[in-house]
Amino acid sequence: MHPILILPGDGIGPEVTREARRVLETVAGAAGIPLGFEESEIGGASIDKHGTPLSDEALEKARRSRAVLLGAVGGPKWDAMPVDTRPERGLLRIRKELGLFANLRPAHVFPALASASTLRPEVVEGIDLLVVRELTGGIYFGEPRGQAIVDGRREARNTMVYDEVEIARIARVAFESARRRRREVTHVHKANVLEVSQLWMQVVEEVAKDFPDVELHHQLVDSMAMLLLREPAAYDVIVTGNLFGDILSDEAAMITGSLGMLPSASLGEGGVGLYEPVHGSAPDIAGEDKANPLAAILSAAMLLEHSLDAPEAAATIRTAVEQVLGDGHRTADLVAADSGETAIGCREMGDRVLEKIGAA
Ligand code: IPM
Ligand code: MG
Repeated sequence: MHPILILPGDGIGPEVTREARRVLETVAGAAGIPLGFEESEIGGASIDKHGTPLSDEALEKARRSRAVLLGAVGGPKWDAMPVDTRPERGLLRIRKELGLFANLRPAHVFPALASASTLRPEVVEGIDLLVVRELTGGIYFGEPRGQAIVDGRREARNTMVYDEVEIARIARVAFESARRRRREVTHVHKANVLEVSQLWMQVVEEVAKDFPDVELHHQLVDSMAMLLLREPAAYDVIVTGNLFGDILSDEAAMITGSLGMLPSASLGEGGVGLYEPVHGSAPDIAGEDKANPLAAILSAAMLLEHSLDAPEAAATIRTAVEQVLGDGHRTADLVAADSGETAIGCREMGDRVLEKIGAA
């Protein structure tokens, strides 16, 4: 039996992971993959219950599991807290402690949703890219960090630091992913200003020598932000550091139509993988059955593929999602303004997906 830990977290996290779990249980059951589920807290829910955004017990459960399915963290209730105790810290800690340095964020357009994008359909058509974001280093974790009073003024600092080992291993993940796709890697950097980016350039070039069959390009991060709006379909794999990857993956997600559609996988050298929607906790609609569970459901598909070696089961989920969208079902975030479409709720969207899988 494969132990799966669910960390619903905050806001819409519990609603969307509930649907993802139902789908995962059903598909795994049909494929004869035995799963055992446990739940624990992370983020604000954990602060409220245990006084910390990630308890040692929750972390221990995560270490003992095969994979973790996470919802989202954060909300206005905890917004005034200092950064080192906030809900987000739970997420950063679990990524770091499990050594999940490789964050895979695929962005692809479901044909039925091309009109939901804020970009013109002909620009959006064919988008199929993968952001490979370094997740356990860079400015998110660099020391020194913090606030101080210097010469009577408040001052704050963070440090962007990467060593060559950290860069080489994420570059390898990017090149290996590209081999299973269109064999193109775009390294995103700010080497005209940052020494850190100059090191990335050198190391990525070195790793590229082992992948002569993969084409490598370098792109400045500000241009990349622009090019993703101009011709997003031109990109295959984008590899970059933690901060640039955070920003560009939201952009990539949004141009496909909705942040509510994008799944992610965080992988490392250890055995545990962590799967979570790219979207946040959306506290404004939490508990109202309005959230889009598809990013969480598609994260469950990534879990089947990467942690349980079950690509067919993953494909079953993806096909079901495509069919449900093709039938015109939309949660509120996907309803185009003035389209006259009506939205269905989070639970009903889960039901629709299960129906297509043949389970409802
Ligand atoms: C993400 C989120 C997190 C990040 C936050 C919640 C800490 O934005 O997963 O992209 O910045 O990594
Ligand atoms: Mg983000």
